[in-house]
Amino acid sequence: MQTKEIKTIIHEYNSIEELPQEDILVVKKAKKAAQRAYAPYSKFKVGACVLLENGEFIEGNNQENAAYPSGLCAERVAMFYANSKYPDVPVKTIAVCAYVNSKLLDEPVPPCGSCRQVLLESETRFNSPIKVILIGENKISIIDNVKQLLPLSFDNNNFSS
Ligand code: THU
Repeated sequence: MQTKEIKTIIHEYNSIEELPQEDILVVKKAKKAAQRAYAPYSKFKVGACVLLENGEFIEGNNQENAAYPSGLCAERVAMFYANSKYPDVPVKTIAVCAYVNSKLLDEPVPPCGSCRQVLLESETRFNSPIKVILIGENKISIIDNVKQLLPLSFDNNNFSS
């Protein structure tokens, strides 16, 4: 019997000003995108911004629906749009934030399991790490790649193993 431990490293910052200029831009665009979310049911407005390796920024936000399961999270809206517009360009960074009553949440909001799976597909597809920036008012958490957010993940390598 063997026991294994899987480690996730989270870099925590107190303010976005501590981040490199490029990341600050992604964060600002994610915050703007959240303002345009369509979240009349949860009132939980999420914004995401994807930075591609070609320098393009793609924003997304959550899109809800009266038939609840038909809605989609901000991260997947942004990721699917990015991959549909630039199918051959890897994603470099994604930033995510959430607002309730027009207030940025104090703590960073981690992506749901389905969004992690979609992010992982892109990371695996291009074999290129995606930096994940989770933005809260009091804390910014950065994870260097999606694999660390989804240990023991299922990906296309499992088809042949
Ligand atoms: N939501 C996101 O957009 N991203 C997340 O990471 C978590 C949840 C959305 C889905 C739904 O519109 C609302 O937030 C409440 O769950």
